[in-house]
Amino acid sequence: MATVRSDSLVLFGASGDLAHKKIFPALYDMVGRGTLTEPVIGVALDDWDVEKLRARAHDGITVANGSIDEGVFAKFASLLRYVSGDYRDQATFDKLRAAMEPSRYPLYYLAVPPSMFEPVVQGLEQSGGAAEARLMVEKPFGRDLQSARWLNRVLHIVFEEESIFRIDHYLGKEAIQNLLYFRFANSFLEPIWNRNFIQSVQITMAEDFGIQGRGRFYDEVGAIRDVIENHLLNVLLLLAMEPPVTRSAEDLIDEKVQVLKAVRTLTKGDVVRGQFKGYLDEPGVAPNSPVETFAAVRFFVDTWRWKDVPFFIRAGKMLPVRATEVVVQLKPPPLGVFDDIRPADANYFRFRISPEMSIGIGARRKAAGDAMVGEQVELSAMNNAAGDREPYERLIGDAMNGNSQLFTRQDASEIAWRIVGPVLNDTTQPHVYEPKTWGPTDAMTGFGPPNGWVEPEA
Ligand code: BG6
Repeated sequence: MATVRSDSLVLFGASGDLAHKKIFPALYDMVGRGTLTEPVIGVALDDWDVEKLRARAHDGITVANGSIDEGVFAKFASLLRYVSGDYRDQATFDKLRAAMEPSRYPLYYLAVPPSMFEPVVQGLEQSGGAAEARLMVEKPFGRDLQSARWLNRVLHIVFEEESIFRIDHYLGKEAIQNLLYFRFANSFLEPIWNRNFIQSVQITMAEDFGIQGRGRFYDEVGAIRDVIENHLLNVLLLLAMEPPVTRSAEDLIDEKVQVLKAVRTLTKGDVVRGQFKGYLDEPGVAPNSPVETFAAVRFFVDTWRWKDVPFFIRAGKMLPVRATEVVVQLKPPPLGVFDDIRPADANYFRFRISPEMSIGIGARRKAAGDAMVGEQVELSAMNNAAGDREPYERLIGDAMNGNSQLFTRQDASEIAWRIVGPVLNDTTQPHVYEPKTWGPTDAMTGFGPPNGWVEPEA
């Protein structure tokens, strides 16, 4: 089973937003590259037929790409099937079984809220469709440690851990893969990649838009649950992990889990929360909601390599730009032989994750002229975007092939919640910030990396 490719893809939540925006475009790209030839069976409550599903997919792909290749789409459309029904009704799963024929090794993709995981996996089991299947589940994986444990128990009643693929789409991004590659393919990094040379690490995920009509969802979640506990904590793990013994999925995930175990549980003093002005007027948001749309969080990783090095993560909606960046700040040289080197002028690595991908190394060189004084430069390498795939394309392909390297294992899914647990569900009002500013900057006075926050450019 571990090596057999899935022979169909069954998408629960086929009429939903994620399918429309991300999953159909990814499947269409796979068809275009020749990496998807298996049937795709959409399942949802809506009383649609396959023509309606095709029209919806066509629309999603056109919106995502700005255009569509009708030849590729025709191939994709020919793979599509549709089953409508309630996830709590066994008849839906019996219909599904019939629609999947003759598939024996399906990949079930649950792009549905976690409250639906239980009825769906039970329905699959009772219809006899779970035995040789894989299961891929969307985020959010629970909302705290207790609910994540419960979800894991529910899934494990029917599926073995090796057949479960918990998605964090960040891990499917080219720039995130590059973090892992860059760290372990460059020998010059290893001697300095530790507490002796690195002063701090900061990760910023800035979004210049609000909650885009997702008020009901977002108001149950907030920034810490939405992107910090999963996407950005995963970035931290790639920066902090030890080299894996081999490139196998198990060895890689083992090293990430070692870091997670060493991340200190947060306390209230490790977090500054903000809410953009106007959030409370968004549809679906509760009156006086205390949910944060911005959070800055300080983490510590208590290992020999990282003891006392602060890792700051900052994420927010309605900030001035849309960009995700990591800045690894080195300590300044012990003496400035020619001129004073301020801590803020020390070397750094900048990893730009999005919208485009680049690596920059902040260094000093002599400024032109008679005096032996320096200036700051950034040596940077833009990545060639050719060959880049959307994260969903990579992740769906990996799950169909049984490759779990880019997915979250059970232990990791629970430890991450242990770390953020004490700062969830804060009922105090977050600090209000003006849209298109860098969050509640007054409240953040004195809270941040020793040399300050670096604002990514647009
Ligand atoms: C999602 C969050 O998981 O990630 C969104 O729910 C966020 O709120 C999105 O905007 C960001 O992902 P990306 O790939 O667009 O940077």
